[in-house]
Amino acid sequence: MSVNAFPDGFVWGAATAAYQIEGAIDADGKGPSIWDSFAHTPGRVSNGETGDVACDHYHRYREDVALMAELGLDAYRFSISWPRVLPEGTGRVNEAGLDFYDRLVDELLRHGITPHATLYHWDLPQALETAGGWPARPTAEAFAEYAAVVAGRLGDRVQHIATLNEPYVVADHGYRLGSHAPGRTDPEAALAAAHHLLVAHGLAVQAIRAVAPRTAAGIVLNFHPAHSASGHMLDQEAATRAHDQVNRWFLDPVTGLDYPEDTAHAFGWRRGEVHPGDMELIAAPLDFLGVNYYCRHIVRSPYLPALAPGPPLEETEMGWEVYPAGLTEVLEFVVSRTGDVPLYVTENGAAYPVDGDPTRDPERVSFLHRHFEAARTAVERGVPLRGYFVWSLLDNFEWAHGYRHRFGIVHVDFDTLERRVRDSGRFLAAVARDGLPELDPSLPRAPRV
Ligand code: FCB
Repeated sequence: MSVNAFPDGFVWGAATAAYQIEGAIDADGKGPSIWDSFAHTPGRVSNGETGDVACDHYHRYREDVALMAELGLDAYRFSISWPRVLPEGTGRVNEAGLDFYDRLVDELLRHGITPHATLYHWDLPQALETAGGWPARPTAEAFAEYAAVVAGRLGDRVQHIATLNEPYVVADHGYRLGSHAPGRTDPEAALAAAHHLLVAHGLAVQAIRAVAPRTAAGIVLNFHPAHSASGHMLDQEAATRAHDQVNRWFLDPVTGLDYPEDTAHAFGWRRGEVHPGDMELIAAPLDFLGVNYYCRHIVRSPYLPALAPGPPLEETEMGWEVYPAGLTEVLEFVVSRTGDVPLYVTENGAAYPVDGDPTRDPERVSFLHRHFEAARTAVERGVPLRGYFVWSLLDNFEWAHGYRHRFGIVHVDFDTLERRVRDSGRFLAAVARDGLPELDPSLPRAPRV
């Protein structure tokens, strides 16, 4: 029996990002991105791995679209490589790069698959980083130029364009922690980057609306419930800080609220980057908002001694807790800010080790099933959720981790580049076709200590 509370027209799909799958890093006039530079810097990525070839999707996109069609997916979320389109980030347009996305979109539409494009999934043109990167305001202006080029070319066929993917991760991992490209460790630069990313979003929404008025414009943000490790007031305070930083720093401004004031103050941020009119620009009404959800964070105050280890949690290979209820929670939280704005789960998925036959992935099936149920609970509670994209279509380049952690519903052999659909891919296909079945209680879960 299938229980389908998902509304008519609910979209089931899979997601990817350009640098993680395309390869072909200097084909047909593409310029270098910060991820090309970062991955080629010794010590930055596990085993010195790079996205030079990745899944070679740039050359194999037809095969990949055919796989999606075989699975009956309604939609595909992909990102566009900015330096493929504008090799220097601004100015000269590389028509050959733009042609690739044109062909991809046509191929998707020919198979009845709705394209959902994201303009920025972390691969800033290196030339712009050299000129100051996201901490410099002109990068936001360059982004608007790029958005207009893409929307002008694809907007007749692409009805959903998201500006940014996870600006929190861009600013925090890229400019504060340095674990992602461009690898800077400068907290002030990270705060400036965060603001300019939002300015870039606001300018890009304007640009998309100007050249492609029928295309829905939105943004993709990541969320983690930040739960206090105890009832101690210091833990609660630390959890509030984490909540402000991850869940509110970007959502609040894009929905017309201000940056979380206490936390901005605690960071010592003086708002020097905020120009008159910025907050209004950033708060331009959204046509949709994308929610990326993987796990919750249990937050312990740095002023308290570490807690004794509790019972082992169920975790994925990334060490991320499997916590489906957090998806319902996050969606309800977002709705408190966005109201009727259509929402999509734009990413959710899991990495598990391959054990024997790489197409057998019962843990991933169980993971997805329980998260689909959590999304359904949110729908039953009135959340205007319109679709769900599993991360990821293919095993791919998992940023600083390289290729070790596999998130695909399709297995990729990185020696031969052969693709093979996993059980989780078949499961997603069945859900897209027939609705969500009852959970199979015999599926293994993966507790890890
Ligand atoms: C998200 C990223 C995506 C992928 C998943 C596992 O934060 O948007 O590219 O790496 O995590």
